[in-house]
Amino acid sequence: MTKSLEEKIQKDIEFQSIIKDLIENDTVLEMKKYRQHYETDCFEHCYTASYYCYKICKKLRLDYKSAARGAMLHDLFLYDWREKGDRKGLHAYTHGKCALENALKLFDLNEIEQNMILRHMWPVTVVPPKYFEGFILTIVDKHCAIEEFNEHMSKKRVFKYAYILFAALFLKKIG
Ligand SMILES: [Fe+2]
Ligand SMILES: [Fe+2]
Repeated sequence: MTKSLEEKIQKDIEFQSIIKDLIENDTVLEMKKYRQHYETDCFEHCYTASYYCYKICKKLRLDYKSAARGAMLHDLFLYDWREKGDRKGLHAYTHGKCALENALKLFDLNEIEQNMILRHMWPVTVVPPKYFEGFILTIVDKHCAIEEFNEHMSKKRVFKYAYILFAALFLKKIG
């Protein structure tokens, strides 16, 4: 996440008040331990997705509070998905259910929040979300994954240019 987006999210008092109890919960904070896409951990991924869902759903006059809360918990699966371990089934198909089960152990969730967590992998999984808020999350989730990939690539590019510059300077010195 860029510094400016991070600051913007932090300054949004309404958004922060909607997700306050979630982001202060120790189990939710555990998502910071697990990498989601590239350098982005699961907590940051959910936090960003939550903010985008909140903004879009508010603009569309949907239930933006449920959208923000559901999105914040949508990847609460709490394991390293790159390691198979003794998990059954493919992560892409099963983690929505796993995240929902974990979230329900911690919070009272309404029908919209539950359904958007369970169905967020659509269309990879067959059954679509039941509510508009859930559809928004399916799009936002993919958008965040692309942003995380782009961030990774731009960092890689910086290292590549730094390396080329360093090599050129070195060659000039010994040449
Ligand atoms: Fe997911
Ligand atoms: Fe996600």
